[in-house]
Amino acid sequence: MPQHGDKAFQKCINPDCAAEFDCSVPLFKCPQCGELLDVVYDWDRVEVPSKLSDFAARWTNRDTHLDFSGVWRFRELLDFCPDRYKVTIGEGQTILQRNDDLAKQLDMKPGCLYLQYEGLNPSGSFKDNGMSAAFSHAGMVGAESSACASTGNTSASMSLYAHSCGLKCTVLIGSGRIAYGKLSQAMDFGAHTIQIKGDFDDCMRQVQNVCSELGIYLVNSMNPFRLEGQKTIMLRIIEQLGWDVPDWIIVPGGNLGNSSSFGKMFSELKMLGLIERIPRMAIINATGADTLTDLFNNKKLRWNDGRVDQSIIDDFYADLTARNFSPHTCASAIEISRPVNLKKCLRALDICNGVVLAVTDQEIVDAKAQVGKYGLGCEPASAATIAGLKYLRADGVVGPDERVACVLTGHALKDPSVTVNYHKDSLGQFSNPPAEVPNDLDEIIKLIKS
Ligand code: F0G
Repeated sequence: MPQHGDKAFQKCINPDCAAEFDCSVPLFKCPQCGELLDVVYDWDRVEVPSKLSDFAARWTNRDTHLDFSGVWRFRELLDFCPDRYKVTIGEGQTILQRNDDLAKQLDMKPGCLYLQYEGLNPSGSFKDNGMSAAFSHAGMVGAESSACASTGNTSASMSLYAHSCGLKCTVLIGSGRIAYGKLSQAMDFGAHTIQIKGDFDDCMRQVQNVCSELGIYLVNSMNPFRLEGQKTIMLRIIEQLGWDVPDWIIVPGGNLGNSSSFGKMFSELKMLGLIERIPRMAIINATGADTLTDLFNNKKLRWNDGRVDQSIIDDFYADLTARNFSPHTCASAIEISRPVNLKKCLRALDICNGVVLAVTDQEIVDAKAQVGKYGLGCEPASAATIAGLKYLRADGVVGPDERVACVLTGHALKDPSVTVNYHKDSLGQFSNPPAEVPNDLDEIIKLIKS
């Protein structure tokens, strides 16, 4: 049980259990009922500013490493550990780009479409927001070794933080299931990289067993401290909109950690009186890995005040097992069919009046090329947001003058193979293949002028 006087504690999300645990205990699920855990704050003990814009003053202290971090400069909103444990490698220096060219393509008014470039993080994806928080907690509980299952980005990010904190790290990946950019990072950053003959869901199951048996610190997004770090992505969007909330947040859905953490952030901000309204959220799956879409849209699975109908989930997964189903999409980052944060995500959808939909691989790679051409580029999973927004615009769910922020979760260089294949074979609407000419100046000039 948490000590009286703690600012933060862990709490089971199942309302019929609601067990509470001290933050000093490393847990990744409730030891009493097996459900997910939240980090919960006693807000009366936390010094929360009276308005979000008060955080802006931190920019004047950029020589202070915690103020420089895009995560820890909002530290009062994730106040679970003393400053001496806080880990930062300069994560969260990301930008919200107003993109009127892409807005025009999507029949939206200027100033309505924004792209949140989380690929600008040190390891090239949004994961660094979460790892700075998870490794701070790992230090606080005295962990010596870390592990994760990954579709690539978690492994890259974990490896970077683990070696900067002096922890060992082990990565479980499905053979042939992760993009080379990400695999190269895990190897280069010193991870013990283990490929298993299976998919991400197999790795996720195995890594939980490995961590329980060997007492290793798990950094996947079922770790509630990791999600606390990812909340700050929403704070930076609000910050860059002049401390205003957008109308929509659009995010790709994989293991559903991001969407879960965003919903938690908005409900906390509203409860604290720091925002007046909560934006709506759209979560975009790939059609080859669309568990959430199927459960939410077809099976009508809902949060239901925490009493989620487990039988719907059990039946769904039993069917996947019976069919020996393994998800497949070119957006390998979100190639997941048993998302561990499903229930928290349902809560986020409830908080944000959210919608869910799935887009095809062709729609993803076309949208990715548009982000490349009109923006700063992104990896396939991130482009699912733009592909999804096209549907939301066509169906009139998102209006032309609503302000939309798409979270571009990973850098374009994470998965160069998908990009090269798309362009070189002229398969897509926006393909831009290289032209070949003889080694001859006249020929080169002729081509440039043509
Ligand atoms: N986008 C990218 C680039 C990702 O790497 C991931 C997840 C997601 C979206 C999905 O986010 O899980 O919060 O819904 N990648 C994990 C990994 C699973 O292992 O790197 P989510």
